[in-house]
Amino acid sequence: MSAYKEAMDHQRDLDIIQQFERYSLIPEDLQLASFENYLPDHYSKEDALKKCQWFAENFDNLTGFHSLLLKGSYGLGKSHLSHSIANYLKNLGKKIIFIDTPSLLRMIRQSYKDSSFSESDVYRLCAEADLLIMDDIGAEYVKQENGKESWASEILFQIITSRMDKPKVFTTNLSSKELSSKYGTHGGRIVSRMMKGTRLIEMEGKDYRTQAW
Ligand SMILES: Nc1ncnc2c1ncn2[C@@H]1O[C@H](COP(=O)(O)OP(=O)(O)O)[C@@H](O)[C@H]1O
Ligand SMILES: [Mg+2]
Repeated sequence: MSAYKEAMDHQRDLDIIQQFERYSLIPEDLQLASFENYLPDHYSKEDALKKCQWFAENFDNLTGFHSLLLKGSYGLGKSHLSHSIANYLKNLGKKIIFIDTPSLLRMIRQSYKDSSFSESDVYRLCAEADLLIMDDIGAEYVKQENGKESWASEILFQIITSRMDKPKVFTTNLSSKELSSKYGTHGGRIVSRMMKGTRLIEMEGKDYRTQAW
């Protein structure tokens, strides 16, 4: 491949990665999220902070595992910490996709109509990025179809399978059982593939947003 074509392809990938950010519902406060401005007020949050920071700093030399799953109720800082990992690694020039799962599905639906990127671009980048962060997995709407796989679980299965041995960060409010039943007959396989090479980080404590009252 010529250097020119290579540079063009690289730029196109970066443009599509920006589309992921456009689609993602990242509130303004999260844009500035960093390890430095995360203030843990519970030992499980301190533990999560240490592990996420270690993960980011040792990203190129991970052995034994390559992915994280942050689990806990809302407002504990799961999106904050996963976005901090994204910011840290982006600054090192890595290709990072951060998107909340409902928006990822919305983006794929939109790719059928939008001519600036195709469905296969989305899958390819999800598979090829240095890190894929799927925020709030399980928060998306999954239509229950009797005996058949829903569209959403089919897509999630495909994306997770395409990165089985590559770094991922998931965040969720749900337990593995809840996730598994959500995705119907695909459920067990999705959760099992999610957990391959993945360390679980469980978070507890108070909702940061409402702690003033
Ligand atoms: N321990 C913390 N220190 C500083 N800011 C926090 C902390 N926990 C949460 N936040 C902030 O509170 C808001 C909600 O946190 P978020 O990461 O979205 O929670 P979750 O994803 O677990 O529901 C975000 O703006 C986040 O930056
Ligand atoms: Mg969140």
